[in-house]
Amino acid sequence: MEHTDARHLKVSSGNSRSIERYDAALELFNGYYGDPLTLIENALAEEPDFMMGHAMRAGLLVTAGDGAVMPMLRQALEQADAHLGRANEREQRHLAAARAWLEGDFCRANRLYGQIVVDYPRDLLAIQVAHLTDFFLGQSSMLRDRVAQVLPHWNAAVPGFSHVLGMHAFGLEETFLYEQAEERGRFALEINARDPWAIHAVAHVMEMQGRTDDGIEWLQARAADWSQDNMMAVHNWWHLTLFHLERCDTERVLALYDERIRSGHSAVALDVIDASAMLWRLCLRGVDVGDRWKELADTWEARGAEGQYAFNDVHAAMAYLGDDRPAAFARLVAAMERAARGSGANAAMSRDVGLPVVEALIAYEARDYDRVIELLGATRLIAQRFGGSHAQRDVLNLTLIEAALRGGNTRLAQALAAERTELKPMNPSLHRLAQRVRALAIEDDLEAAEQRTSPVAAVQRAA
Ligand SMILES: [Fe+2]
Repeated sequence: MEHTDARHLKVSSGNSRSIERYDAALELFNGYYGDPLTLIENALAEEPDFMMGHAMRAGLLVTAGDGAVMPMLRQALEQADAHLGRANEREQRHLAAARAWLEGDFCRANRLYGQIVVDYPRDLLAIQVAHLTDFFLGQSSMLRDRVAQVLPHWNAAVPGFSHVLGMHAFGLEETFLYEQAEERGRFALEINARDPWAIHAVAHVMEMQGRTDDGIEWLQARAADWSQDNMMAVHNWWHLTLFHLERCDTERVLALYDERIRSGHSAVALDVIDASAMLWRLCLRGVDVGDRWKELADTWEARGAEGQYAFNDVHAAMAYLGDDRPAAFARLVAAMERAARGSGANAAMSRDVGLPVVEALIAYEARDYDRVIELLGATRLIAQRFGGSHAQRDVLNLTLIEAALRGGNTRLAQALAAERTELKPMNPSLHRLAQRVRALAIEDDLEAAEQRTSPVAAVQRAA
């Protein structure tokens, strides 16, 4: 008798209790709820050669996007290897894909998971791992199209359909198809309101369209569905905080930072990234963030795992600069330089994006604004290569704008402000930006007039 999971995909185990646990763990993973890893480890403790359990544990660790879990992934794959003879073809392919990730060949891992998706379009584990690795690799079009590949094989009767729609919504958003993205995300939530990825996808639409009030209302009204016992919780709080930041409500931003983003002192990569990005944004605005950098820099230092994923490293750099830790910063840069000389996806990410951005950040701290402009002016155009979302990478645009303003580069400040105001309706942040650009231009005019009328200038002109 053949044994299958909830979507009728064959599994090599005949243990129905293991398969039930697999389906339950996958459901948790789909919604980023609870602790799917412990659930699947319990299944593996009872049935050590439960190969789909091994595949899931490996997939969960891959999607952490965190060098800190690589030792766990190594151990997980060693345990799986001891039973590899039992694995069916699909299970073997899952483990091969995870092994490529462990070896640092992120692109190959992504391709292998993608090939499983093509051959088994209802393999929701493969779909989600491929989706998240598309995210880490900055493959925006595949965030959309990989999910589109499987849609003909799904409908509301297949368990997990809402999650497929939620992933598609995010891919549509990251490829600027905002109306379709919002429609798809709302459809996903009609089927299953407790889908934080779909809620998050629609929040991204609102962020990109500058719908500040809508965004706050959207996330607050659904907080019960995303904020409890959820891996995406800090990230969705971060999105809510971004909307308040656009309103220039820094008091609320700091309160949310303390009460939601850093209340648990999480050391999870996704959480410390968001914390760094938020404090950096506040500092760009000249907001006094008190001693918040210290706690965050301590957490980044304790994590280690530097030089394994450039996107994370850039956010660690913000914390080290924010708390003025030159030794930690130098160690981080050395790790990134070593990574850049290596092979695999992170070598290119570190070389092309990570290191130039980190150099721009330290130039910004040193008030060498011309250098910031030179570095970020070029790097922001290819920054998707180191992963993340448009909303996350916007911190590079904001740093560039601030460098133009502080460095007195009026033309560039005007151009970047015009670029930004064309994309979003007027809000307090944009208004403040426009005022600062105008003030800079007036200052330039005054200086020019002064030069024209000053006796020294007149003598210089005559000479
Ligand atoms: Fe996001």
